[in-house]
Amino acid sequence: MAQIKFENVSYRDGENTILRSLSVDIEQGDYVSVMGPSGSGKSTFLKLCCHLISPTEGRILLDGNDIMQQDPIALRKKICYCFQTPVLFGDTVEDNLLFPYSIRKQNPDREQIDSLFSKFHMPPDSMKHEIKTLSGGEKQRIALIRTLLFRPEVLLLDEVTSALDVDNTLIVENAVKAMNQEGITVLWVTHNPEQGRKYADKLLTIEGGKIAALEVLR
Ligand SMILES: Nc1ncnc2c1ncn2[C@@H]1O[C@H](COP(=O)(O)OP(=O)(O)OP(=O)(O)O)[C@@H](O)[C@H]1O
Ligand SMILES: [Mg+2]
Repeated sequence: MAQIKFENVSYRDGENTILRSLSVDIEQGDYVSVMGPSGSGKSTFLKLCCHLISPTEGRILLDGNDIMQQDPIALRKKICYCFQTPVLFGDTVEDNLLFPYSIRKQNPDREQIDSLFSKFHMPPDSMKHEIKTLSGGEKQRIALIRTLLFRPEVLLLDEVTSALDVDNTLIVENAVKAMNQEGITVLWVTHNPEQGRKYADKLLTIEGGKIAALEVLR
């Protein structure tokens, strides 16, 4: 059974059809690059996957169940969406990384935090760093770490490295690849053809609100 199944999914905003009759299966453990021209509907596709928006036609199934009928909190734990522009809050890195524990009424797992710092090449004393002093690449990595403290089943990445230099991009790519190898399904929107083909096992191309191609790479 597909982990995420789109059955003739359309998304309309008034008269404007943004996605038209998409049918696609994403399997557990897939690493899918999503590519296509600007405005073709890639971000809309990711937002539908995690029910940030609802299809206007068709059905989206997660593990065989219609996402419209799933508890939003349970869904948010299973499937996480990382925006292109990271949104950090409070004053320090700690404010961001302790929040996911406090909303769950759990004690912070310092080992998990340290292990993610190391995976994303953040210094071990990063917790006390002030948000306003972080570079764009550091902000991006802290936002990813915050998403990954509680391991999702599916990770949706929307151009998360488009503002990063080569070194930072490599760090993020390798960390995401490692998580995919641990079983997390990855859907990654990118405009970079090299990145799109580097690690992904499938390449989904969306053009003009339709699936133009689904290529199996490896
Ligand atoms: N909530 C919305 N209401 C109306 N139109 C929208 C909405 N969201 C997106 N659109 C339109 O739908 C189309 C697809 O947008 P989307 O953000 O999915 O494209 P994209 O492929 O992610 O583009 P980019 O590569 O530039 O990020 C665009 O024409 C956009 O203007
Ligand atoms: Mg987009």
